[in-house]
Amino acid sequence: MLDTLFDAAKSAQKRAYSPYSKFKVGAALRTPLGHIYAGCNVENAAYPQGNCAEASAIAAMIMGGEHEIAEILVIGDGDGLVTPCGGCRQRIREFGKATTPIHIAGPQGVRAHFTLEGLLPHSFGPEHLGNNT
Ligand code: THU
Repeated sequence: MLDTLFDAAKSAQKRAYSPYSKFKVGAALRTPLGHIYAGCNVENAAYPQGNCAEASAIAAMIMGGEHEIAEILVIGDGDGLVTPCGGCRQRIREFGKATTPIHIAGPQGVRAHFTLEGLLPHSFGPEHLGNNT
């Protein structure tokens, strides 16, 4: 199961459009139906307008008509753990649960496992607005 996510994220990473940072990121998520959606980072000459890989994978899931993340894997190069940025933790929060696994991979495989609650404790989400859709 994790191998499938890893392969999908790694393929997506190759499509990254990151001419400014030169840092390619891929993300792949699995929904409760078992479907996999992937995305890459897409940068922009007006730097803040760039999209993270996680945001792209979530957009693909929404276009697939699904709204729940069962688990997500992020892959990047280098020695450090490519954990989701603060904004992406909140994006995952929108469609995940406290226990949703977030796997972090490097080129050779998965390096670390977190949960959404671990990376974004005491978070704010849709239920705070009385909106569970
Ligand atoms: N980036 C992601 O796509 N996801 C992460 O989890 C960390 C950072 C991207 C944003 C930018 O295009 C590049 O990596 C360098 O920050």
